[in-house]
Amino acid sequence: MIPGQRRAAVMLLSVAIFGVMILQPVLSQNEPSIAASENVVLTVGESSSPSIILQCNLTSSYSAHKENFWMKNGEEMPETRTDNKNMEFKLDRPRADSAGVYVCVYIFETGPSANATIEIKSAPVITGHKRSENKNEGQRAVLHCKSLGYPHPMWTWHKVDNGGFKDIDNSTGRFFINSRDNYTELHIANLDINADPGEYACNATNVIGSNTEKSVLRVRSHLAPLWPLLGVLAEIIILVIIIVVYEKRKKPEDLQDDDDLGGPV
Ligand SMILES: *[C@@H]1O[C@H](CO)[C@@H](O)[C@H](O)[C@H]1NC(C)=O
Ligand SMILES: *[C@@H]1O[C@H](CO)[C@@H](O)[C@H](O)[C@H]1NC(C)=O
Ligand SMILES: *[C@@H]1O[C@H](CO)[C@@H](O)[C@H](O)[C@H]1NC(C)=O
Ligand SMILES: *[C@@H]1O[C@H](CO)[C@@H](O)[C@H](O)[C@H]1NC(C)=O
Ligand SMILES: *[C@@H]1O[C@H](CO)[C@@H](O)[C@H](O)[C@H]1NC(C)=O
Repeated sequence: MIPGQRRAAVMLLSVAIFGVMILQPVLSQNEPSIAASENVVLTVGESSSPSIILQCNLTSSYSAHKENFWMKNGEEMPETRTDNKNMEFKLDRPRADSAGVYVCVYIFETGPSANATIEIKSAPVITGHKRSENKNEGQRAVLHCKSLGYPHPMWTWHKVDNGGFKDIDNSTGRFFINSRDNYTELHIANLDINADPGEYACNATNVIGSNTEKSVLRVRSHLAPLWPLLGVLAEIIILVIIIVVYEKRKKPEDLQDDDDLGGPV
């Protein structure tokens, strides 16, 4: 009995799955369809980049279409709402920050909204980095870089050595790299005045290309902040010596003066 029931259940399940598979294309025929522009690869750095036009055309829908708008990187772009079935978004003189994920979204009187995605990719461009960092030995240095472009890059850090790049020697365990999306940080703990000063380079690489920027790290002796203090101290000592010497030389005269004064009195 029990094996028989199980077999029946398995058969029912198979029929159900088969039914869903048959029905799926029928259902999707009623789904809205959108004809969208191809993905774009931007070549940044060329000042005369032609403008790019993104298009979405609603070619079928299951109910009356209400309105539509554009999204970029997950956020609605302001002032892009229209009720045209064909929508266009023009990028004049596109730059690295034009790269990203664009989505056209159609809203209908009834039923769920529909959308199509157009990706604009570009090599990363490093837009922010620390040109130099000055620290004292024993302190912690933090260098950073951030980028524009899409997709977000993979980040690596190198030390610049005779104009070339070499891997960072982390045998002392003092180097830490934090990277997230379009931002990376290199931390160097407990700075070593002999080993650490120099140039460090961050490298951003994605499927389209790569870019690198350099930062200079200077490390001062931990006596450095004391130098002004030592200077003042030295000044005081010299002043005291001068006063003492002057007083010693002056003393006999003073005594004479006293004597002179004392005589008549
Ligand atoms: C959208 O429709 C317009 C006008 O019919 C046409 O010129 C354009 O090529 C279409 N775009 C796409 C992506 O299908
Ligand atoms: C786009 O459509 C998919 C399903 O087709 C949905 O999961 C997603 O949330 C939609 N995205 C937007 C931005 O509406
Ligand atoms: C970096 O990416 C975040 C989201 O991932 C975005 O909000 C921010 O504007 C981006 N910054 C730059 C400089 O591209
Ligand atoms: C360097 O070594 C420390 C300690 O072993 C480790 O925590 C850190 O992740 C390493 N840093 C890099 C960049 O590999
Ligand atoms: C960045 O690193 C990648 C991978 O190691 C390398 O191919 C590329 O040449 C580097 N880019 C620059 C600008 O140094």
